[in-house]
Amino acid sequence: MKTLKTILLFMSLLGLNSLMAQSLNALHVKEDLTKVRLTSPLWQKAKEQSVEVYPQTTIEMNDAELVRANEANLAKILHVKTLSDGKSIAFLLQWKDATKSLQTTDSTTAYGDGFAAQFSTVSDKLPYIGMGSEGRAVIVHLQKATGKVYEPNNGGDVYHQVNTSNQNAFAKELTSYKNEVAKQGNGDYQRSFISEGFRSLTQIRDNAEPAVMEMKYDKGVWSALLVRPLKSEHLSLQGSFPVAFAIWDGEKKNRDGSKLLSAWVGVSLDAKAKALALLDEIKGDVSNGEKLMMENCSACHQYKAVKNAPNYMAPNLSNIGGYANASYLKESIIDPSAVVVAGYNVNAHKNFLWYTSDEKGVRTSTMPPFAHLDEKSLNDLVAFMKTLKVEVEK
Ligand code: HEC
Repeated sequence: MKTLKTILLFMSLLGLNSLMAQSLNALHVKEDLTKVRLTSPLWQKAKEQSVEVYPQTTIEMNDAELVRANEANLAKILHVKTLSDGKSIAFLLQWKDATKSLQTTDSTTAYGDGFAAQFSTVSDKLPYIGMGSEGRAVIVHLQKATGKVYEPNNGGDVYHQVNTSNQNAFAKELTSYKNEVAKQGNGDYQRSFISEGFRSLTQIRDNAEPAVMEMKYDKGVWSALLVRPLKSEHLSLQGSFPVAFAIWDGEKKNRDGSKLLSAWVGVSLDAKAKALALLDEIKGDVSNGEKLMMENCSACHQYKAVKNAPNYMAPNLSNIGGYANASYLKESIIDPSAVVVAGYNVNAHKNFLWYTSDEKGVRTSTMPPFAHLDEKSLNDLVAFMKTLKVEVEK
């Protein structure tokens, strides 16, 4: 133990601790976790660990009000506790949010606070953080805070909404509609999805990926629970595996891609589990990376104050260091088509296609591969990109 402490101290003096991947250690418990809830005393035993979530800035949303509301966003800390009983994994997440926002059925402009956790169906590569990628599907569990939701087709249609501006003509109908919702509506919007990339999110309706989810707001803090099996139709979580979290702030009109997102974080089911090499950090010369980035990349990518590239040309990398892992960044430079970020609606931005696709639908990135860069230059670029992120909210 003493030697371990000495080694850790030595490593932190060398600045090496930043090279170790962020990880969550699941506390093993005997209790059946399918019964654990937000208020279970079991949580008091688990250690709190923190995960940073960063504003996803890849694409600019087509909603000026939303863009304005999120301009000055900082990163947030998710306080995470993790339990496992050998059959299920349970997460308790807590984060600060000054306002409680609920998604309602009678407003088209109110968005709910929410959270999601995603798991990778592949173990040798990292899927695209924003919803998986081709051949690297993710399972996403999502909950939005709602008032009571009326689902006319019983299919989770929270977008079926009644416009309050119709109040005058239909006040009576609206009141009776609200009463009906209160009587018959479901309390929560919770769904499981499988996704192989942006806009391929498909709801899983057959309970193949069961999950218990809960959200509770108290004094400026959201607490959220997710319990799911380690083994299911699409996942077999064992040893160490990656997980990523996202949160939405309804007050800021956050929805869909507009959210705060973590990088892939390792979860260890037992202390002996080997850390995931995929999540290792990469060391490099940040200032040389900055120079290389200006020379090779700034014609297409905007990042922070560097705005040489036209809007819509390529992903905005201002927060890429917050939600992308080093191995993903390195792969993005050498082999851009390994994971293709779909980008904007191709009809709306014809001149800025992020990919082309052949008759079989296989996508090729319009970013040229930089496989000719030597190892040092690649590492320097990655090290610089890892610094691209906003500060964490105090
Ligand atoms: C010709 C324009 C162009 C150049 C030059 C270019 N990129 Fe890209 N880049 C793109 C496009 C378009 C995408 C989105 C499609 C994709 O995923 O490959 C992208 C995607 C990326 C991504 C993934 C972003 C995300 O949100 O996941 C990273 C990281 C990246 N580029 C880094 C770089 C770096 C580093 C350089 C310079 C060494 C560079 N790019 C040069 C056009 C370019």
